[in-house]
Amino acid sequence: MFIALGIIICSISSPVVAGLTPTCTLSSSLLVPLPTQLIFQSSLFLENIAVRTSSDLLLTSVESSTLHNLNPFTVNGTLAPVHTFSNSTAISGIAEYRPGVFAVVASVLNTTIRRAVPGSVVLWSVDFNQAVAAVNKIGTLPDLTGANGLTSIPDAPDTLLAADSASGAVWQMNTRTGASRLVIQDPSMLPGAPAPALGINGLHVHGGFLYFTNSQLGTFSRVPLKIESDEVSTEGPVQLLATTTGQSPDDFAIDTFGRAWTALHPGALDLVFPAANGTWSTLDIVGNLLGNNSALNQPTSAAFGRGDLLQTQMLYVTTAAGQVVRVDTTC
Ligand SMILES: *[C@@H]1O[C@H](CO)[C@@H](O)[C@H](O)[C@H]1NC(C)=O
Ligand SMILES: *[C@@H]1O[C@H](CO)[C@@H](O)[C@H](O)[C@H]1NC(C)=O
Ligand SMILES: *[C@@H]1O[C@H](CO)[C@@H](O)[C@H](O)[C@H]1NC(C)=O
Ligand SMILES: *[C@@H]1O[C@H](CO)[C@@H](O)[C@H](O)[C@H]1NC(C)=O
Ligand SMILES: *[C@@H]1O[C@H](CO)[C@@H](O)[C@H](O)[C@H]1NC(C)=O
Repeated sequence: MFIALGIIICSISSPVVAGLTPTCTLSSSLLVPLPTQLIFQSSLFLENIAVRTSSDLLLTSVESSTLHNLNPFTVNGTLAPVHTFSNSTAISGIAEYRPGVFAVVASVLNTTIRRAVPGSVVLWSVDFNQAVAAVNKIGTLPDLTGANGLTSIPDAPDTLLAADSASGAVWQMNTRTGASRLVIQDPSMLPGAPAPALGINGLHVHGGFLYFTNSQLGTFSRVPLKIESDEVSTEGPVQLLATTTGQSPDDFAIDTFGRAWTALHPGALDLVFPAANGTWSTLDIVGNLLGNNSALNQPTSAAFGRGDLLQTQMLYVTTAAGQVVRVDTTC
């Protein structure tokens, strides 16, 4: 099911945190599947990924309270611990909100029901602009039990948005004061089934819209945002862009053309993109609906590399089976 939108977003200036310049254009056809390489196999359920300006990957796991660093240039390298967060068992979302400063969502997670202990969800900042990363508590999100994706907002470094997969909501947090506020709670974000089902999962802001997936409903949607004196609000109804029948979308990476490279359970990476006529389509980049491609076993998130031009065209995908897979999007 697709909805015509009329507006195609392309060549939006790239946010500081994205730093990606893919060469594939909307008009060029992608030769799929794109080549993949397993660069690391972890024993942990990998949940999310962010990339530092040094090209290093930051990896989170719902089975560990330690944030890890991985050098992407060494195949089968070593996970280097960056920091272990107290009073938590899991880290979900991660987002860079100022150059070199990342926020992570830590919580005490019951992995069976995929819900956090109420009151345990804390946002922390990890500042890499010094020899040893400086870690500080930003604030707690007492209303969240389904803490999942996290995103920064281009040009609004004081504000982070956190997804709650349980209550179908997005909360904002002020990175200076730690104050939090409900931005939106909507049926399009609800799980639509009891725990352990997850509703809204990945979320990213691009070109004035908040894009998000709903894992249980199998949807990719967006909602226009308004940001006024650090207060984020929606400026219109949620727009359903695409459905991923039979597959559960997780987190995704948006490129400079506004296309979403989306991790799908059980085993695919899909491109969700606006066609020339304004409707949105999906294309299997790696894997398929059956999920029988061992190159990607339960993908959870994706992020473009940083550094030279070649790195910015490498998409790093994490999976629940502990894989870190490099997808070459050069075309
Ligand atoms: C990395 O480890 C995997 C097994 O996890 C192995 O199949 C692969 O050959 C190794 N690659 C290199 C370059 O060592
Ligand atoms: C961890 O929890 C304990 C007990 O609730 C509390 O005293 C302590 O301050 C917490 N630590 C941090 C870093 O929040
Ligand atoms: C997780 O939740 C289930 C269902 O409520 C419960 O039976 C189990 O004891 C919980 N596990 C932990 C570690 O709290
Ligand atoms: C728009 O283009 C896509 C891709 O070419 C096509 O699948 C779809 O049917 C078109 N939709 C309309 C309403 O023309
Ligand atoms: C997945 O299953 C389909 C249908 O059985 C088969 O054609 C395809 O080769 C399989 N792919 C892999 C990677 O095993």
